[in-house]
Amino acid sequence: MGVKIVETSLRDGHQSLFATRMNTEEVLSALPELDKAGFHALEIWGGATFDSCLRFLNEDPWERLRKAKKICKHTKLQMLFRGQNILGYRHYADDVVDKFVEKSLKNGIDIIRVFDALNDIRNLERAVKATKKYGGECQIALSYTTSPIHTVSYYVELAKEVEKLGADSLCIKDMAGVLLPDTAYELVSELKKAVKLPIELHSHCTGGLMEMTYLKAIEAGVDIIDTALSPLASGTSQPCTEAFNFALKGTKYDPKLNVEMLNAAAKKMQVVRQKYIANGLLNPKVLGFNPNILIYQVPGGMLSNLINQLKQQGQEDKLEEVLKEVPKVRKDLGYPPLVTPLSQMVGTQAVMNVITGERYKMVPKEINDYLHGKYGKAPGEVNAEVRKKIIGDDKVITYRPADDLKPEFKDLKKKYKKIAKTEEDVLSLALFPEVAMKFFEQRKADKKPTKIKVKA
Ligand code: CO
Repeated sequence: MGVKIVETSLRDGHQSLFATRMNTEEVLSALPELDKAGFHALEIWGGATFDSCLRFLNEDPWERLRKAKKICKHTKLQMLFRGQNILGYRHYADDVVDKFVEKSLKNGIDIIRVFDALNDIRNLERAVKATKKYGGECQIALSYTTSPIHTVSYYVELAKEVEKLGADSLCIKDMAGVLLPDTAYELVSELKKAVKLPIELHSHCTGGLMEMTYLKAIEAGVDIIDTALSPLASGTSQPCTEAFNFALKGTKYDPKLNVEMLNAAAKKMQVVRQKYIANGLLNPKVLGFNPNILIYQVPGGMLSNLINQLKQQGQEDKLEEVLKEVPKVRKDLGYPPLVTPLSQMVGTQAVMNVITGERYKMVPKEINDYLHGKYGKAPGEVNAEVRKKIIGDDKVITYRPADDLKPEFKDLKKKYKKIAKTEEDVLSLALFPEVAMKFFEQRKADKKPTKIKVKA
């Protein structure tokens, strides 16, 4: 059997290239062809797509999902789910996780890819259980990073736990694009020996490595790869779908995608790409390569955030210093992988350390919570001196952070009963309280009959 392909342009593609601004009409435009192209799944939903619908596009993300499901009769729809954070930025109680999973599956999602920034298995448990309970397919993604802790054997041990947890498949999620070709070969080979689960690879072209890394992973037996259609591929996005379809043609890895359908879908996405280049949202800068990420191990999105933060402070000349500070902060915190929300947290701390001229003189609340154990277990040892300086002798929790949270869905329902029409609405409000509220207030205002002045 050939390698399977998950097409990412409708989620990660536009998230990586132009801040997730593709609207529902554009997403739906290529779906009839993508549905018939022979993909394993289409990635279509995630935290940023959900947020962006409400915040920038004045669209209901649930509506997008339902419309997509109506079109897709042959291919599964996939979403990205941030463990106990769901799609938001705090830990939610278990009953909200359950409800969100239930509704996602009901509205059209087939595969839920769950990950936790710290790879703390306890933060994944509930989402996995809920996905299985409501009949969905559950994939667990391991956040890939490099550090003295994050060795091949670390990931192999983690994979064994993931298998025990009941996941249907496993993904290596290399958000920064730092997985080297030979490491990929070794990692996939060892994972294939250790677990029976299908293995998927997800990465980004940012550093210029990914076609090489993907090919080595394929030779090592990876089952599924994530790629994006040519108009939304490369740069900070995924490798190109059509290119892999050609590269593997006639080999035992042949994905056997329908070239005609791919071309037709790409033509439509080309129109979308041109629009976002013309309106400036797609900055040609992100289409090139940035090998520096391999030195700093910083994801592309984080790098542009750091530049923005420094710009706001009028301290752009400090970038080099901040980039050198990032690995030090990461080490102090026990080497968290730099993925949402840890990438933002570590980045902000590094900026503060440099700008104030004293390390940990200023500390964001999130870092404080992290040191209290509220995000879960740090992968490695936290620097005791740094911890003491920031949280003193405070107790550090060692249990699953969500165990502190009482069921909250009933209360949320009550809280939003005036504005929410459905449980889906309640979930939107629970995840993004301010933006969703604005969206629903707008919806209410729009529904009121327009007064038409009639000339007498
Ligand atoms: Co990605």
